[in-house]
Amino acid sequence: MQNGRQAVPLEKSYLLLNHGPVTLVGSTHDGRSNVMAASWVMPLDFDPPKVVLVIDRNTLTRELIEASGEFSLSIPCREMAAQVLAAGSLSGRDGEKASRCGLEFFAASCVAAPLVGDCVAWLECRVIPCRDNQDRHDLFIAEVLAAQADPAVFSQGRWHFSDDCRRTLHYQAGGAFFVTGESFDASEQAPTGG
Ligand SMILES: Cc1cc2nc3c(=O)[nH]c(=O)nc-3n(C[C@H](O)[C@H](O)[C@H](O)COP(=O)(O)O)c2cc1C
Repeated sequence: MQNGRQAVPLEKSYLLLNHGPVTLVGSTHDGRSNVMAASWVMPLDFDPPKVVLVIDRNTLTRELIEASGEFSLSIPCREMAAQVLAAGSLSGRDGEKASRCGLEFFAASCVAAPLVGDCVAWLECRVIPCRDNQDRHDLFIAEVLAAQADPAVFSQGRWHFSDDCRRTLHYQAGGAFFVTGESFDASEQAPTGG
């Protein structure tokens, strides 16, 4: 384990996105790094693990991802909501964005795109190029190469939030978020169909 980060088996990495949290997309190319907020992100496959995300064609992030073929997903939490909103409102085209938003980068292990500090989970992704999806729908498919999570909130394949500040975020619009709520197990109450 490294500073509150524990490796998540790749075949379990989809669980980091299964509850639909807001993400921070990290990207880099030619000495320029950037971060933007993205809600339209979801798991796509188990083995190899894949994700899909929608990245608007006018963003700097889109330009950097198309140029590098890589990106990172960091999963922020409630105590970072204002920074997340800033990362989703400002553009890196207008100057270095991470520090303006109060976000800190650190190095990923498999991709050049940076990860964002203070988050609760991280995925490193390589784009599987599909020109048609990208051009027509702004949609990117990517393989997950590495995944990590803070074991204080994600372990043994489950999220468990004891600290409200570390709950993951879900976006509505206009600066309004939800946080992930209570977890419960419905397996013993589920009808068996017999
Ligand atoms: C919470 C939140 C979620 C967002 N989700 C997405 C998304 O899924 N896809 C997208 O293209 N833009 C999304 N945006 C907007 C981008 O983050 C925004 O356009 C950003 O300024 C682009 O930054 P860049 O030009 O530095 O790459 C979201 C914004 C917020 C606040």
